[in-house]
Amino acid sequence: MELKRRPRRLRANEAIRSMVRENHLRVEDLIYPMFVMPGEKKKIEISSMPGVYNFSLDEFVIALQEVVTLGIPAVLLFGIPESKDSVGTGAYDEHGIVQEAVRVAKKHFPELYVITDVCLCEYTDHGHCGLIENGQIVNDPTLDLLAQTALSHARAGADMVAPSDMMDGRVAAIREGLDKEGFSQIPIMAYSAKVASGFYGPFRDAAGSTPQFGDRRTYQMDPANGNEAMLETALDIEEGADVIIVKPALAYGDIIYRSKEKFGVPVVAYNVSGEYAMVKAASANGWIDEKRIVMEALVSMKRAGADLLITYHALDAARWLRAEGHV
Ligand code: PBG
Repeated sequence: MELKRRPRRLRANEAIRSMVRENHLRVEDLIYPMFVMPGEKKKIEISSMPGVYNFSLDEFVIALQEVVTLGIPAVLLFGIPESKDSVGTGAYDEHGIVQEAVRVAKKHFPELYVITDVCLCEYTDHGHCGLIENGQIVNDPTLDLLAQTALSHARAGADMVAPSDMMDGRVAAIREGLDKEGFSQIPIMAYSAKVASGFYGPFRDAAGSTPQFGDRRTYQMDPANGNEAMLETALDIEEGADVIIVKPALAYGDIIYRSKEKFGVPVVAYNVSGEYAMVKAASANGWIDEKRIVMEALVSMKRAGADLLITYHALDAARWLRAEGHV
């Protein structure tokens, strides 16, 4: 049979396959999320996230050495404070756990790009991302605390701040707060399309940030909505977001794609805790090939349009890429 077009011609061997490969995962694409907590000599594995730990600051420095050695350019920090209260004081404490972690990280590894998650939920005793008044999560009174949180991170030396709370107007409030204090050069990476997702379960175990009443559906987005994701993202960019995040990643490839097409700004896919836990559980059972699944999932996010990937698989992915000579 005479077929003019035979796509298999370009799949004949590894040489030609790699020559025509359209998307590549690079170590430089990876952002590694890490959890820090007070104390000493603590490295506590998160039970639903094998291979991911809560670190005291001494152990955090040891772990960072590995991140740097592997060539991973950036970390995203989350804090687990000693105590929580109704207004999330630990989030904007100049000597809070994340603020101290930033100082330690920049002192030992000045070249490492340090991004901080800006939110109240790890620091509030009710587990919500905003202040509570009369049983409601109130928007505007929360904004000032988010701005203070971001500012305290910038003062500690953070390179970039990443608000994950989903309050309306938080990017504008943070931008204004940073600019007023001389941090106009600190970029904002906004969790713009952040869905009220079941995929955050293991993270909330780690952070003890499961809401004590209700859920996050009055501020995080409905999983069914794509146009709303575009609106959220447009507003964040208007308010000054430099980089935007789509979260979760695996079930939201369409949102990644649409964001990249529509806005052209750097798009980050957040491969969240539940996505990580599923891969780990299935591979621990021998049901899937972990490396293949992880690399396939990560490159699919790039194909969808993500420029950068936040993933708990970052250390493994970097090791695998290096082993294959892709540094
Ligand atoms: C804080 C925050 C969460 C995650 C990142 N920042 C939890 C949430 O919104 O409930 C989830 C990260 C993950 O699941 O890996 N607001």
